[in-house]
Amino acid sequence: IKPDPAVIVIFGASGDLTARKVVPALYNLFLDDYLPAQYSIVGVSRTPFNDDEFRTHLRSGVEKFSRRGTPKEKEWSAFAGNVHYLQAEYNDPSLYQKLLELDETSWSTPPNLIFYLATPPNLFPEIISQLGNFDLLRGDSRYRIVIEKPFGHDLKSAQKLNQELTQVFREHQIYRIDHYLGKETVQNILAFRFGNAVWEPIWNRNFIDHIQITVAEQIGIGRRGGYYESAGALRDMMQNHLLQLLCFMAMEPPTSFDADEIRNKKVDVMHAIRLISREEVPRFAVRGQYGGGLVEGESVPSYRAETGVRASSNTETFAALKLFIDNWRWQGVPFYLRTGKRMPARVSEISLQFRPVPHHPFSHLNTQLFQPNRLVIQIEPNEGIVLRTLAKEPGLGMKLKQVDMQYCYHDVFKTPSPDAYETLLVDILRDDPGLFMRADQVEAAWRVLDPILEVWRSNQELNFPNYQPGQWGPPEAEHLIAQDRRTWLPPV
Ligand code: BG6
Repeated sequence: IKPDPAVIVIFGASGDLTARKVVPALYNLFLDDYLPAQYSIVGVSRTPFNDDEFRTHLRSGVEKFSRRGTPKEKEWSAFAGNVHYLQAEYNDPSLYQKLLELDETSWSTPPNLIFYLATPPNLFPEIISQLGNFDLLRGDSRYRIVIEKPFGHDLKSAQKLNQELTQVFREHQIYRIDHYLGKETVQNILAFRFGNAVWEPIWNRNFIDHIQITVAEQIGIGRRGGYYESAGALRDMMQNHLLQLLCFMAMEPPTSFDADEIRNKKVDVMHAIRLISREEVPRFAVRGQYGGGLVEGESVPSYRAETGVRASSNTETFAALKLFIDNWRWQGVPFYLRTGKRMPARVSEISLQFRPVPHHPFSHLNTQLFQPNRLVIQIEPNEGIVLRTLAKEPGLGMKLKQVDMQYCYHDVFKTPSPDAYETLLVDILRDDPGLFMRADQVEAAWRVLDPILEVWRSNQELNFPNYQPGQWGPPEAEHLIAQDRRTWLPPV
C-alpha cells in the first residue's frame, strides 16, 4: 500500500547527510514505487541555491552514494520535479509560516508534513521551538519530526532535548533515527529469534557462555574530525548502535509486532543492564585511540593528526565494554562489546558462544582444540548466519573437524537489500515508529554510559595513541576479556 501524500521538509538540505543518505534513499524509494502518489520534498538551508542548483547538487550525491549509481535522465527528472528549495535562516519565523503553508495542497487528502532535521544538533532547539509556535502540530500524527543522533551528549542533555521535543510534539510524532535498526540483517535478528522454535529454549544463561558484539571499521575519522572530537566512540557508536544490537539479542519475545510492544521489550533490557560503578570502570571499560602508520602499504595519519582534531586530543576512537544484564535469562552471562576505527577489517558481527559439551566421548582426540559451538550473526559486510559445529571428517576412524552451517543473504535471497535509510523512511511515511528510538530508550542508554564518561573525563592522563592502525584496539581490550579467561573471537 502506498503511503498517504506527504510533504518532506529537510532542514540542513545542503549538508552531507542529505546528499549521502536521505535523498539517495528517497530516490530509490521513488524508483521502487514506494513514495506516495503525491509528494514533495522541500530542502531548507542557508546556502544560496535556487531549485535547479539544489537539484543538481542532489543529483551528484545520488550518483556518488546511491547503491544504484548514476540516475537515468527521465527518471531523475520525474523525481526532481517534486524537489524544491528554500533558502532561509533557521531563526526566521517567516520560514516556518511558509512551511506550514505547504500543508495547503490541492491533493486529494491533506498531506503528512514531515520535518526532517538533518542539521548539526546545536540547531535542534531553535528549529523545534520555532515549530512550537504552531499549536496545531501538537498530537496530530499528520505532523512528524525526524531527528538524527547525537541525542544529547549525556543523560542530562538528552533529557533536556527530550523535553524540548515533547513540549511541541507527542512521543508518537517523534522519529529518532538509529540507522542500524534499518539494516536488513539487524531486523532479521527478530525474525531469526522469534520466527523459529529451535532457538528460544537455548537462548539463555543455561546454554550460552557469553555474547560478543563487534562493530569494527577500517576507515579513520576522515573529514568528520570536528564532530568526532565532541563525540568519541562511546557516544558515536556504543550509546546507540551497539546497545540497540544488544537489546535485539537480549529482549524477551514480544507478543506482537506493535511498535510500542517491541520498544517496551527493548527498554526492559536497557533498564536491566547492571550499572558500572565509578570504581569498576577500569575493569569494565577500555578506551583507545589510533596512531599513524602503514595500512596495506599506505601511510595513514594518527587520529591526533586528522583535520579538525586537537594535537593533544584524548577522544577515544575505540571502546570496549563488559556488561551484565540482571534478569533471569541473562544472569551471569557477560556481553562484551567493542567498536573502533582503523581496525583490521570492516566487520559488524554478533557471536553467541555456547557452553562446552558437558563430556567429550572422544577421549583419544585432543579435545582441548575443540571450540564450543558458536552462532554468528553477520551484519556487514557479509550478511548471513553461521553456526559453528563439529563434524566427523570423512575417512577411517573418528576424527573431528570444525564446520560451518550457514546461510548467506547473497545466495539465498538474490535481490540486493535496501539501504537502511530506505526502510526507515518508508516507516516514517507509513507512521510506524517500531524501528526508532523512544525517549526512554535513549535516556536508559545514557544512564549506562554516564559513569564511564565521567570517569574518562576526569582521568586524562593517557598513553594515547595506544593502538596501531590495523590492530583490534589497545592491549587493554585483550585484558578486559582475558581476565575472564576468554578471548575476542576472530570474525568468521
Ligand atoms: C554512524 C557513525 O552512526 O555510523 C559513524 O556516526 C560510523 O562514525 C557509521 O562510521 C557506521 O555505519 P555503517 O552503516 O557504515 O556501519
